[in-house]
Amino acid sequence: MKHIDIKEVFADKALVNTKVTVCGWVRTARNSKNVAFIELNDGTSLKHIQIVVDKESGVDFEDALKLGSSLKVEGTVVEGRGGLPEINAESITVIGTCPAEYPLQKKRHTLEFLRTMPHLRGRTNTFNAVMRVRSVLAQAIHEYFRSKNFVYVNTPLITGSDCEGAGEMFQVTTIGYSTEYKNEQEYYENDFFGRKAGLSVSGQLEGEMAAMAMGKIYTFGPSFRAENSNTPKHLAEFWHVEPEIAFAELPEVIETAEDMIKHVIRTLLDTCPNEMKFFDEHFEKGLIERLEELISHDFGVVTYTEAIRLLKESGENFVYPVEWGCDLQTEHERYISEKVFKKAVFVTDYPKEIKSFYMKQNPDGKTVAAVDLLVPGVGEIIGGSEREADYDKLVATMQERGMNLDLYTDYLELRKYGSVPHGGFGLGFERLIMYVTGMQNIRDVILFPRTVGSIR
Ligand code: 4AD
Repeated sequence: MKHIDIKEVFADKALVNTKVTVCGWVRTARNSKNVAFIELNDGTSLKHIQIVVDKESGVDFEDALKLGSSLKVEGTVVEGRGGLPEINAESITVIGTCPAEYPLQKKRHTLEFLRTMPHLRGRTNTFNAVMRVRSVLAQAIHEYFRSKNFVYVNTPLITGSDCEGAGEMFQVTTIGYSTEYKNEQEYYENDFFGRKAGLSVSGQLEGEMAAMAMGKIYTFGPSFRAENSNTPKHLAEFWHVEPEIAFAELPEVIETAEDMIKHVIRTLLDTCPNEMKFFDEHFEKGLIERLEELISHDFGVVTYTEAIRLLKESGENFVYPVEWGCDLQTEHERYISEKVFKKAVFVTDYPKEIKSFYMKQNPDGKTVAAVDLLVPGVGEIIGGSEREADYDKLVATMQERGMNLDLYTDYLELRKYGSVPHGGFGLGFERLIMYVTGMQNIRDVILFPRTVGSIR
């Protein structure tokens, strides 16, 4: 079906006074005395193109006024109101009709209502803008790492080892309910892989192996977590960006994270001005200014120990009490970034007990070289660390935690054969999108959210 993108009609001034063919879905329609107006959107642009039908022209348009129907329109581009292009229709073909019970009517629907129709909500301005921002950010992330000599690798989604050790792995099995097996071991031995397998919570362990060969790598793919957290910022399936850097200590990991975030936000502001203006107007007043501000200053850096002191001295009534050794909750993370620093802030050197086994142990014997990036409005968007590169120390920690070393043989061997200081981080892609759009619920920044108790 030969046609041009509606985005092109807005972008290319040379199209004025020429004939074009566009396709799209009817967003609004108005029938007045001598003319009819149809706003058409094909998803390439946030703005709809106005189709003007002169009733004298003989163009058959009656069926084309129904919201949601899909049309092919041929006509001449003219300069309309405010200098924006419009199309004077010369012929209209209804490709797909749409009945009056079409759920997306003219009024503004709530995000909760739209969540009940993931197959249609992409046709609203909000989701159209979110998905375009998502796409631009993904490309900006690839562009950033490519420009810095990182190799893009794809780590497995099915794995035999739990990276984070939090027991949040979905099990992968081909054996359904069965009472045939004497015990768990026999059951797993008979399963597809001959041992217990699950969906990966992180590509980091394999990412480290790749970095030990290619120096600087990153992964960008889905991670799965069977966390029973029904919150606005948790998904069971989220997209995870995980760089891993060889010959690097914690400060270089932090520097890369800051540089990458600044690069992708700059690219977004430059590439999607209309979408960002839309979010600024409808979802978070002052959003663009806040992002400009963010990328023009250094991010804050504070140790966990100092953050705990700040929280304790804050006089705030937190729901979760603050003590050295506690995990920071969203309310604490937001207080640190919103009230104390008023910007993005890296929190470093957490107590070893609340962090994963692979993190580098600090000389104090109490903390590890971990880092989280906290941002106002969302809380944690990045979690990372320098990795423990010393074989004996790593084995000791894993034994203390009662881990089965046999499942991590390859990982441990990296510490035997030319071990080097290295580190990396994981960025929750959806959390980044929430932060840059002002969307408050993670279910609204991914096409088909998977959350506890809900799949469609
Ligand atoms: O802090 P996390 O658990 O770190 C890791 O997985 C490391 N292996 C990363 C690394 O060093 N390579 O997760 C990293 C980020 C979090 O900061 C958060 O943004 C996101 O992943 N995340 C989630 N996003 C949505 N839903 C969930 N259930 C998430 N769990 C983590």
